Amino acid sequence: MNTQPVTVVIGLQWGDEGKGKIVDSLARDYDFVVRFNGGPNAGHTLINKDRKLVLHTIPSGVFHRRTKLVITPGVVIDPVKFKLELRQIKEFEIQLKSRLVISPKCNLILECHKELDRYLEELRGKSKIGTTLSGIGPVYADKARYLGVRIEDVFNKSALQEKLRLLKKYHRFETWNLKRQIGELESFLDEIQGYLKPTEIILNSAVANNKSVLFEGAQGTLLDNTFGTYPYCTASSCLSASACLNTGVPLTKINRILGVFKAYVTRVGAGPFPSEIREAGLNESIREIGKEYGATTGRPRRIGWLDIPALKYSCSLNGCTELALTKIDVLYQLNSYYVVTRYKLNGEVTDFASLRTEDLYRVEPELKLFRVKKSTDSLYQLALDLKNFIEDQLNLPIKLISYGPKDNEIFTF
Ligand code: IMP
Ligand code: MG
Repeated sequence: MNTQPVTVVIGLQWGDEGKGKIVDSLARDYDFVVRFNGGPNAGHTLINKDRKLVLHTIPSGVFHRRTKLVITPGVVIDPVKFKLELRQIKEFEIQLKSRLVISPKCNLILECHKELDRYLEELRGKSKIGTTLSGIGPVYADKARYLGVRIEDVFNKSALQEKLRLLKKYHRFETWNLKRQIGELESFLDEIQGYLKPTEIILNSAVANNKSVLFEGAQGTLLDNTFGTYPYCTASSCLSASACLNTGVPLTKINRILGVFKAYVTRVGAGPFPSEIREAGLNESIREIGKEYGATTGRPRRIGWLDIPALKYSCSLNGCTELALTKIDVLYQLNSYYVVTRYKLNGEVTDFASLRTEDLYRVEPELKLFRVKKSTDSLYQLALDLKNFIEDQLNLPIKLISYGPKDNEIFTF
């Protein structure tokens, strides 16, 4: 029996809950930090000694030199972006040798996937998903129909050529220069070959040897491709259980599930958003205070109030054992803020799970007003008030409250 934590950190909203910072602050106590889902659609922002590092694929434990970093088969890798990320990390004088491990089973995002993502969005016209155009949907679709190209396939040039020819035909992507694509893949392989190892063996033996492991989820529960707001979602599973499916570490080994959520809600891309703030001025001012622009695409994020019915849904799907609340400093800069406590549809109280995606556009949120009394209350008092209210609503303990981007700006309980 492992007495060390084997933890899944999972986003409870539509991504950008501040998981990167939470993982960074927990990582010093973990032997392993593991990315298991999504790809470079994710953007995890870390601040270290006033310098900012935005990660897309590499686990958020980079700053803790003792911590091993693992990328497992559920992750899709864009070779071009990955090389840039490695270069960026080098500028921080962080050594990855003997720390980073990548599974050769990871599927690769190729030029055809990015092209197809753009094309599909164009075809959708007004009903665009608002994807990050990173090729995520198409690469997972090709994986499912046995057309995927994995890192391990790059070792065998003639077999790789055959796979790419088939893909080119299937997608009718006549202008795709396969020679250039192969050159790119080979140079990627040269750079990462030393990191390739069977991550399922490494992680299972770590767990068997009483090491601590942190699985870092990407995106958020409401972007899950089954339980999220389909089709306005991402292509991988974002639930805690997907940490097992995508790493090969069995369910019985997980002993802690930490759900991360922001004190208000943001969403990038299209799709229903029941607690969205319609008042343009307020929406904008929270966006500015919270610097709510996509870390991957730079797009302005949509802003909404904290949404309890959505959180209840997410906590139940993930089986959270504890919670982390982030960005309360943003609410502290307002004079008042709201929390959505219930949903009504056609006058009847309802819950998130019972609603079809299209109902979520029409739902009527009930709001509770909170005043910020800066003259008498400290930021810590606001933290306590929110903690008590939310814990009561969700019946789960909040163990961490983050109040700024720096790694030391965090209350622990
Ligand atoms: P895709 O994952 O690029 O296909 O995008 C699908 C939807 O998920 C879009 O609404 C994106 O904005 C959203 N999305 C994907 N990754 C993230 C993320 O890391 N944070 C927030 N939203 C994301
Ligand atoms: Mg992000």
